Amino acid sequence: MTIQIDDTLFHLQTDHVSYVFHVMANGELGQLYYGPKIHAKTAYANLAAEDERGSMPALAVDQPAFQLEMLKQEFAGLGTGDYRYPAYQIENADGSRISEFRYDHYDLVDGKTRLAQLPSTFDDDADDAQTLTIFLKDAGNGVAATLHYTVFPHQDVIVKSVTYTNQGSQAVTLNDAYSSELDLPDAKYDLIQFSGAWTRERHLIRTPLRAGIQSVSSLRHASSHQQNPFFMLARPDTTDDAGEVIGFNLIYSGNFMDQVEVDHYETSRVLTGINPTEFAWQLDPGETFQTPEAILSFSANGMNQLSQQLSAFYQRHLVNPAFAHQPRPVLINNWEATYFDFDEDKLRTIVDQAQQLGIEMFVLDDGWFGHRNNDRSSLGDWVVNKAKFPNGLAHFVDQVHAKQMKFGLWLEPEMISEDSQLYAQHPDWLIAAPGRLKTPSRNQHVLDMSRQDVVDYLVKMVSDVIQTTKLDYIKWDMNRNITDLYGAQLPKSRQLEMGHRYILGVYQLYERLTKAFPNVLFESCAGGGGHYDLGMMYYAPQAWVSDDTDAVERLKIQFGTSYGYSQSMMGAHVSAVPNDQTGRQTPFKTRGDVAFFGDLGYELDVTKLTEADKRQITAQVARYKHYRPLLQFGTFYRIDSPFEGDGNVTSWAVVSADQQTAIAGWYQVLHHPNGPYQRLKFRGLLPEQQYVVNQSSEHFYGDELMRAGIILHPDMMTDVSNGDYQSQLFVVTAVQE
Ligand code: DGJ
Repeated sequence: MTIQIDDTLFHLQTDHVSYVFHVMANGELGQLYYGPKIHAKTAYANLAAEDERGSMPALAVDQPAFQLEMLKQEFAGLGTGDYRYPAYQIENADGSRISEFRYDHYDLVDGKTRLAQLPSTFDDDADDAQTLTIFLKDAGNGVAATLHYTVFPHQDVIVKSVTYTNQGSQAVTLNDAYSSELDLPDAKYDLIQFSGAWTRERHLIRTPLRAGIQSVSSLRHASSHQQNPFFMLARPDTTDDAGEVIGFNLIYSGNFMDQVEVDHYETSRVLTGINPTEFAWQLDPGETFQTPEAILSFSANGMNQLSQQLSAFYQRHLVNPAFAHQPRPVLINNWEATYFDFDEDKLRTIVDQAQQLGIEMFVLDDGWFGHRNNDRSSLGDWVVNKAKFPNGLAHFVDQVHAKQMKFGLWLEPEMISEDSQLYAQHPDWLIAAPGRLKTPSRNQHVLDMSRQDVVDYLVKMVSDVIQTTKLDYIKWDMNRNITDLYGAQLPKSRQLEMGHRYILGVYQLYERLTKAFPNVLFESCAGGGGHYDLGMMYYAPQAWVSDDTDAVERLKIQFGTSYGYSQSMMGAHVSAVPNDQTGRQTPFKTRGDVAFFGDLGYELDVTKLTEADKRQITAQVARYKHYRPLLQFGTFYRIDSPFEGDGNVTSWAVVSADQQTAIAGWYQVLHHPNGPYQRLKFRGLLPEQQYVVNQSSEHFYGDELMRAGIILHPDMMTDVSNGDYQSQLFVVTAVQE
């Protein structure tokens, strides 16, 4: 039993975590505990104790000790004595905004069903999860709130969401509708967020909680390059290897809000969900609103363990099962090789050379359609550019397939150029406010995905492309964020629904395409990392992490990304030097050694390589394929952080499930002359097992490798000819006696 219920006390247990809440004296839900597992009991009088303070609103004159402000709550409203930010706010028909959701009943089932319109977690075989549903009702306005909790015991994950149904006779409006509230009894945590910018995504920032509101959020109608919905609350002494940490994420790709409020009694209220700014939802009688799902996970053993349990969870309960464990192909992408300047003949030379190097898939990037030779035209016209492909795209794809290579294609379905046939036919399909400037960004506009006719058109267009080309893979880009938000088909009272309706349209398009073409692998891109979220990962099992392909920049980007996402979700490419984003010249080996810890690809003109570089690629690709299951799906450990100290050294490792094989990557940014000795201390090995490192003659016990470590090759530290940007890979293999 993972969920134990005693009358009105609910105890959710994973293998290592307890989450306890109950029905309070006023009929609302109160939170009692979230943290390392505790025994199930029939009551927790100590945790439920009331604490009367002077001059606080109370439930009734004869119940002065029942003060909402003093209690940890499960589903807090505003306006009845708790002045912290609420988990929801409903505007009633008379304009008042008071709600009182009282407990009605519960339901308990095995498994977890998928949500109808939103990406969600699942347990299709109903053998790895249990779902508790709590039914609450506000007699004042007739609105029912249904709180969903699914416990995934073996990955220490609890998933929460809320459904609102208007069972009354008058329309109400949802102003705030968070997916999860967690009231923690103290504030001795560091907030760890992953923020940045385009080409500098998901850098780790760690700050102690302070009194008041602190938040991470997006108003870009995308999870964004700038912020990410994943964040952690860690005890101040928590590291990657030890200590308590809670991880939070949201399965959503639009505007989000992660908010922590430290109140005057130093408790912390954590809210995650749709950003209440630019959001409201009118609920007419009989209508229902479903929030996205929020993920909650706890580790008492550091952030590596948290990342690992999340990774295991995504592979089993979030990512499309058809691809969750399927090795991802090594690809060549023509974007940084040619940008818009290519034709069929040029691409064929790249394909021929790539095939000889052992590369498995060719991805044709932007510029293959309409008359697109720069970023000023043709988005929306998903028909081949005959000047570049005189024999049609299918003919070219056949040639790629004839080389036993897969074929991938770039699309940007949500966008439209003013210079396009689509715009000439449907100028009203782009998002714009009447009488206002249509704000361009990268010379393009955003289609109104809240319109069913737009989604239907895109399903047809993309399906035609898939069917005629027989492609194997789609890189789904999205190079700008929405401005001038206005829903031409929505009444005034529903304009604030537009952002969420847009995202629902995107999800519908993904849902229909992935259902119709179950063998096509989707990669989400969004200008490299602008849609790096679990909503996308549900449909697209991998994502282009960043437009920055510089190996040094990638250390921080991939290290930061690894806290909340698996390495199989990270597209990682080797590109040419000097690097297009930084001008930096890094060795070929280092670029490969960084890209190895993701879904490896190449993004350079392989026809212009030296023979030495070709030999390196051939060797890299062969080695990558040999260790591919380990590199893409092994247990990932962060070791040396680029976000600590001077950030000069980064290291990480992947370990096989049986702990018999591991590969560690070690990277040094600048070469310091006569520098200090350095050691790499491995993680995740069996202490009693003997191993060799890179086929060494010496045998090492696992405990020796993890506790003492190995001294790094002295040449790397002292030999000037090695220069900056060096890397080493260490393959650790168990010795079979
Ligand atoms: C942004 C992507 O991240 C790039 O890889 C490339 O596909 C361009 N868009 C094409 O416009």
